[in-house]
Amino acid sequence: MTAKIIDGKQIATQIYAELKSKISTLPTSPKLAIILVGDDDSSRIYVRNKQKFAAETGIVTELFHLPANTAEQDLLQLIDKCNQDTAVNGIIVQLPLPEHLNTHRIINRISPLKDVDGFHPYNTGMLQNNEKPYFIAATPLGIMTLIKTVTPELSGKNVVIIGASLIVGRPLATLLLNQECTVTVTHIHTQNIKELTRKADILVAACGVAKLVKNDWLKPNTILIDVGINRDNGKLCGDIDFDDVKEDAAAITPVPGGVGPMTVAMLLQNTVDAYILQRSAL
Ligand code: GUN
Repeated sequence: MTAKIIDGKQIATQIYAELKSKISTLPTSPKLAIILVGDDDSSRIYVRNKQKFAAETGIVTELFHLPANTAEQDLLQLIDKCNQDTAVNGIIVQLPLPEHLNTHRIINRISPLKDVDGFHPYNTGMLQNNEKPYFIAATPLGIMTLIKTVTPELSGKNVVIIGASLIVGRPLATLLLNQECTVTVTHIHTQNIKELTRKADILVAACGVAKLVKNDWLKPNTILIDVGINRDNGKLCGDIDFDDVKEDAAAITPVPGGVGPMTVAMLLQNTVDAYILQRSAL
């Protein structure tokens, strides 16, 4: 084993301590509204996790758990209510949504000032323009923090991202481009993917395919960020085959304990930022 383990859990713990101390100086508790539609098992686990760490940090959460067959109008009305409620600082709609709901229409309804997931087109658009959005999506923000612990200077680095999702691949590509990286985003239709990944100084796997990335996809000394949460024979694993790559990589995030804990920490950081932003606008 030569790869350095990038310990996301430890870094997230430090962030929680800082947030807790910041929150203790505020006149009231920040509040996050969480909207969950349906009973997807993974989504329920993610939401429970967000609530647990919010409570430990001093953030109040209110969970709106709606049935899977909720009408879009009802969901939009709930978002309107949360937008207007001055006690609510942040709003998230857990994704994915049931098929009959239009994700973009729903995300677009959240006030950009309360969009602590950073998915609203105002926030993604500002990021694209290399201007300052109110909020940046939590997973890419967490990944940037993890990468910078091993390589603070990013200018000129070749980065390959596997996966072009709204939640990870696209915003992460923009953040890295804004830091002067040369970014390649690959996806399911990419041809000869190994030719691209072998040029990477930093590789981010966010495609949801268990142990897809093997050592022969990589040049030696690559920094590896694994966003995948999959099961292989019941055991949790990432999109990178950890045992296959661990001798030759420079650094790698473990699964679990890498990107996952950072995502929740960054969401809660965004919620505290939302509180401060909204109070300063009063
Ligand atoms: N589903 C998977 N990741 C996320 C996330 O970061 N935010 C929301 N709202 N849904 C998700």
